[in-house]
Amino acid sequence: FNCRKSTMWKYKEFMPVDPARIVTLEEGGTPFCKCDKLGEELGVELYVKVEGSNPTGSFKDRGMSVGITKAMELGVSTVGCASTGNTSASLAAYAARAGLRCVVLLPSGKVALGKLAQAMFHGAEVLSIRGNFDEALETVTALALEGKLYLLNSVNPFRLEGQKSIGFEIVDDLGWKSPDRIILPVGNAGNISAIWKGINEFHRAGFMEDLPMMTGIQAEGAAPIVRAIRENKKDIVPFENPETIATAIRIGAPVSALKAIRAINESGGFAETVTDEEILSAQKLLARTEGIGVEPASAASIAGLKKLVENGEVDKNEQVVCIVTGHLLKDPNTAIDACVKPVEIDADINELSRILSQG
Ligand code: F0G
Repeated sequence: FNCRKSTMWKYKEFMPVDPARIVTLEEGGTPFCKCDKLGEELGVELYVKVEGSNPTGSFKDRGMSVGITKAMELGVSTVGCASTGNTSASLAAYAARAGLRCVVLLPSGKVALGKLAQAMFHGAEVLSIRGNFDEALETVTALALEGKLYLLNSVNPFRLEGQKSIGFEIVDDLGWKSPDRIILPVGNAGNISAIWKGINEFHRAGFMEDLPMMTGIQAEGAAPIVRAIRENKKDIVPFENPETIATAIRIGAPVSALKAIRAINESGGFAETVTDEEILSAQKLLARTEGIGVEPASAASIAGLKKLVENGEVDKNEQVVCIVTGHLLKDPNTAIDACVKPVEIDADINELSRILSQG
């Protein structure tokens, strides 16, 4: 394996797979953008970790590289997952690269178009479930327990081993220092748990002194973890009918909820909800202030930051890293719906001049 650019495999010593036999599309090593304009507007020192720059356009590729490598080591022939979209897109691509059969279960009518196109185009067998993500995951888990397929949802610990590299890169990007806070969207809660694991591995290795406050953001209509933390409960009461425009995090019963609560509480972090309106306005703000295009779920981290600064929960001048988890084009319909239609004109210089002069 010959690595030209920096990828997550820079940290291969921390990954529990044989580095000589990695299934990779050169994932990780994503942009770490200092966002001075937006930071100033929000009153913090802001960095944005752009996970949409991964091979299939989301952070899932990190976990899938490790997960599929492990599947090959184990000699399985069929892999599968339930997904709100991105996991299925990533799994389909990595399974294609490895030559494995791939089955994905998606909640019918609730998967953004770009993700569905990816899963289908990479050759996965796509099953549309009459039900939500939680029901799809329950079904595919039962099948995996019967030995019919190798499950690559984030209940699979090897997925989390890959995703912890986001934590490694943030520390590395900052010159082997911890930021004050890491903010990210939370759905099935694998990512926040994975990043906290990675951060702790680097901390124990003596690579950094401090630890960041892990801050998870959920959509108001799908916020079982925020509710559990607010009510100081250890038993998670699922949201029976989760609903949000951010379909990626439309999840009522997160499988890694307890790990996420541990990450937030251990780190002295926080959990907050944001409305669909706040998500859409943060998505536009990030795109137009900094040129970073993200899907709605990803914008929850920016919306959350804005809310926490306004509430006084985040101190002014804190050094904050917001993780934006997926690319704008994953969900083209939501992006188009948020804009006014292009003006149609003739290919005529006079008409064009008239329009430009309107400012
Ligand atoms: N952001 C995006 C763009 C996602 O696709 C997901 C999860 C999350 C955030 C939340 O991460 O689940 O680790 O807390 N998407 C999964 C999927 C559920 O099936 O693609 P999490």
